[in-house]
Amino acid sequence: MVADHILKAWITGWAITRGVSAPIAEYDGYGVDVGWPQQLQRYVFAAPGDGFKLLANTVTEPWVFLKVCIAPEQVATLLPSRWVIQQQRYMMVCNRPMAQSKFALPDEYELQVSHEDAVTVVRITMGEETIAIGRIVFVDGYAIYDRIETHAAHRRRGLASFIMHTLERIALDEGITKGILVATEQGKLLYEKMGWELYSFYTTAVIPGDK
Ligand SMILES: CC(C)(COP(=O)(O)OP(=O)(O)OC[C@H]1O[C@@H](n2cnc3c(N)ncnc32)[C@H](O)[C@@H]1OP(=O)(O)O)[C@@H](O)C(=O)NCCC(=O)NCCS
Repeated sequence: MVADHILKAWITGWAITRGVSAPIAEYDGYGVDVGWPQQLQRYVFAAPGDGFKLLANTVTEPWVFLKVCIAPEQVATLLPSRWVIQQQRYMMVCNRPMAQSKFALPDEYELQVSHEDAVTVVRITMGEETIAIGRIVFVDGYAIYDRIETHAAHRRRGLASFIMHTLERIALDEGITKGILVATEQGKLLYEKMGWELYSFYTTAVIPGDK
């Protein structure tokens, strides 16, 4: 089962990078008052204990997200039919140096590093346009990597890997060697290539509402 300190570090870092209120220990997991129109609250659980089951059976309003670190097939058996399982995500960890590459940033791109409160943002730009981006924040001795993205027209050129290596150097400068992130399917392929390990499923359910 996912260790509580990993889940807590992840959700704390997530809240910081998104600029929303800090998670609160609630039920047997963590709750965040996100406050976005299509994400009012999120609750994350290492396992589907009493808290998860209570919320699954009592929440009826849309846009409350339940996240639990087990496989989607298992989650589906615990949810009343109003809940919809979202695209699969994966919690991943990296406790050693990421796989190196000889990639050098081509001249047409520029690397920019900025600090937005506790979050360090790394961008690859081309003129005024952001081509690739990633963020990092440090929580309880872990580096939380978040929102890694490359513009669709510039993918498979090594840019996200370059962003990740740049973020890793920033973490190492802080003496932080352990990383946590939650990956999309595409992201998982990138991170596995870089030596990250799958730690657990990260399955989300929500009751959809009007868009
Ligand atoms: C995932 C994402 C950030 C990868 O960006 P990228 O700049 O294309 O990544 P890189 O070029 O550094 O990829 C390095 C390696 O990762 C793997 N990889 C990355 N994307 C892949 C894909 N779509 N399919 C298969 N392997 C992939 C490959 O091994 C690749 O090396 P190769 O091109 O020599 O085969 C990009 O696809 C993206 O922005 N997707 C949408 C947002 C998203 O899902 N972000 C991840 C959030 S966790």
